[in-house]
Amino acid sequence: QNDLHDLVRRAIRSVPDWPKPGVTFRDITPVLQDPRAFRVLIDLFVYRYMRQRLDLVAGIDARGFIVGSVLAYELNLGFVPVRKQGKLPSRTVSESYVLEYGNATVEMHADAVRTGQRVLLVDDLIATGGTMLAGIKLLQRLGANVVEAAAVIDLPELGGSRAIAATGTPLYTVCQFG
Ligand code: PRP
Ligand code: HPA
Repeated sequence: QNDLHDLVRRAIRSVPDWPKPGVTFRDITPVLQDPRAFRVLIDLFVYRYMRQRLDLVAGIDARGFIVGSVLAYELNLGFVPVRKQGKLPSRTVSESYVLEYGNATVEMHADAVRTGQRVLLVDDLIATGGTMLAGIKLLQRLGANVVEAAAVIDLPELGGSRAIAATGTPLYTVCQFG
């Protein structure tokens, strides 16, 4: 981890006891609000992926859209959304996953990727990893080659990054919070 990763890490706001007592929420909005931190964040991803011959960037609803769409634009690639259930108008494929209380479902358009396309999947944060794992599964069901999953923040104590690594899809995160 070098100075640039640390600049991004220092711009992340930690909000104690949100959304409930005992949880510290890691908030990326100050990174987005600060033009220097936002540019450093995106450029870290750009330098990592500019030589990887990607075909497409996929981003996860909602904060993965912010980082993923800017990154796709900078890499001269298209962007496809992995959305929460019920938002996409055309034919979809969906994948459900377990949350702390209940279930959640993410969806993609069935024609969002073509077989063999090299896709980068982006989100803001890995907690339990359930959301990112569902996104990886959806992309793979559509025939994508998920070259890497990337996020701004990893919360390693929640086990998500370990679970993602265990699937064989490489994972890159800019910074970690214990
Ligand atoms: C958060 C975060 C990730 C996910 C991480 O999204 O942006 O997508 O949870 O948690 P996990 O690793 O345990 O799956 P959230 O569901 O709060 O949705 P939002 O982006 O629409 O606020
Ligand atoms: N920050 C943002 N999103 C999250 C977090 C967090 O700390 N935990 C689970 N989703």
